[in-house]
Amino acid sequence: MDRILGSNSKMLMVIYALGSIESNYSSRFQLALAILLKRDFSHWIGDIEAYDPIISVTDTKIMEALGCSVLSINEECRRRIEKPTLFYMPFVLFEHVGDLLEANWCPSRLNQMILLTSSFNDTMEFWRDLDDLTPGTLLFSNVVLIIPRIIISLERE
Ligand SMILES: C[S@@+](CC[C@H](N)C(=O)[O-])C[C@H]1O[C@@H](n2cnc3c(N)ncnc32)[C@H](O)[C@@H]1O
Repeated sequence: MDRILGSNSKMLMVIYALGSIESNYSSRFQLALAILLKRDFSHWIGDIEAYDPIISVTDTKIMEALGCSVLSINEECRRRIEKPTLFYMPFVLFEHVGDLLEANWCPSRLNQMILLTSSFNDTMEFWRDLDDLTPGTLLFSNVVLIIPRIIISLERE
């Protein structure tokens, strides 16, 4: 972690594609995970910023009360980072992950970036097995943490 943080004391967390916590059960648990990560790793996770075009006014009020900033500008998941940043993209479309990686495709940026997103395998299975979907499918789907050249997959039991 020290290698990624460099001279920075904390890492920004950017959440893309959370959905609406007002209307989506999975989004509520995904936001809870982000807040718990910040709580449990407060020595290296700092501010949380979030954007999804469907975040409502009610969502914004709740999220701000919980300590998250809701962005008003659509970055198209293409933020070009200038400082250590953890991107949390729960159950996002593949192309948005591609856009983010493309925008930061150089060693100096990738070396400052952590990507926490759903397992690509599980996401593909989800679309294949859509008929079998239960809310728990998304909540407990595998999570894959991508750090440049290192892929750590947190498999469900
Ligand atoms: C498959 S849904 C996932 C929603 C939620 N995380 C879940 O697990 O149910 C993908 C989400 O990406 C959001 N999205 C679409 N374009 C986006 C953009 N430019 N920036 C951030 N989120 C975007 C959509 O509004 C949608 O909520």
